[in-house]
Amino acid sequence: MSLGTGLGVGAAVLLLSALLLPHLHPEGPEEEQSGPSMVDAGALPKFREDFRMQNKSVFILGASGETGQVLLREILKENLFSKVTLIGRRKLEFAEEAYKHVRQEVVDFEKLDEYSSAFQGHDVGFCCLGTTRGKAGADGFVRVDRDYVLKSAELAKAGGCKHFNLLSSKGADKSSSFLYLQIKGEVEAKVEELNFDRYTIFRPAVLLCNRKESRPGEWLIRKFFSSLPTSWAKDHSVPVTTVVRAMVNNLIMPSDKKRELLDNQAIHNLGEAEDLNKP
Ligand SMILES: NC(=O)c1ccc[n+]([C@@H]2O[C@H](COP(=O)([O-])OP(=O)(O)OC[C@H]3O[C@@H](n4cnc5c(N)ncnc54)[C@H](OP(=O)(O)O)[C@@H]3O)[C@@H](O)[C@H]2O)c1
Ligand SMILES: *[C@@H]1O[C@H](CO)[C@@H](O)[C@H](O)[C@H]1NC(C)=O
Repeated sequence: MSLGTGLGVGAAVLLLSALLLPHLHPEGPEEEQSGPSMVDAGALPKFREDFRMQNKSVFILGASGETGQVLLREILKENLFSKVTLIGRRKLEFAEEAYKHVRQEVVDFEKLDEYSSAFQGHDVGFCCLGTTRGKAGADGFVRVDRDYVLKSAELAKAGGCKHFNLLSSKGADKSSSFLYLQIKGEVEAKVEELNFDRYTIFRPAVLLCNRKESRPGEWLIRKFFSSLPTSWAKDHSVPVTTVVRAMVNNLIMPSDKKRELLDNQAIHNLGEAEDLNKP
């Protein structure tokens, strides 16, 4: 490595430490992980078929986001639900045929109580909502990542939702001194109080995706991870496609656990149990 490259890498590492600090914060010691302990990939096709046969209904919050988009695509591709509803602040345009039967409920998240009907009658819910402090300011971040999420979960529960899936973050901890992790921990706990029949929390590390919107910090982070030994990269990042595979695989696997917590490692295990681009 040349001196110039070395200095460049050094500077990048410094910058990254600052950017990643919240994500690298250690997990709370009291957290027990409780995803599926063993993944028998061979059983997934049967689970998928059994799941389809139940003609369930799903809603997705945040379907325009990086994770939500991929989740919606997979759900449609695998034809897992007989009814798919997107709940969002704007109507999305889809060109492909596969999206033809997707329903959309446009809501005002500031007056969500007025839109309780949008949350009626879904068996399963996925929440991939979120913003950043950079985009929305500290107050805006709390409003979206805590208040909108919690209110949506309340309305979903009241509307009959049985299985609520929350995309949270590695390091989520309601006693964290980082606002981001504290809010993630707080919303996780408040949703748990709603007492869904099944409640699944996903805690991925840094999401790797090809974001259209420019976030130079994240671009640098992706470059950085792709230059690292895979084991280290796996501890600190996860492709969005893997998160979505984990969500879908977990969804179709019957579970008698009321609450499931999938940490970044569990997401890798479950998400890689089957290739996204299987034939
Ligand atoms: N990025 C990471 O490295 C990382 C790591 C761990 C966990 N997470 C968490 O994972 C979740 C999803 O991340 P992502 O990168 O997939 O999300 P994203 O691409 O930023 O998408 C966010 C979604 O939330 C919606 N949203 C944002 N602000 C809103 C507002 N004020 N009102 C209504 N809807 C709003 C967006 O809708 P519009 O399209 O209408 O804006 C979009 O559908 C977030 O909770 C994030 O904190 C992210
Ligand atoms: C689901 O729909 C299919 C086809 O419409 C039907 O044959 C089946 O009985 C339904 N299953 C349930 C559990 O309602």
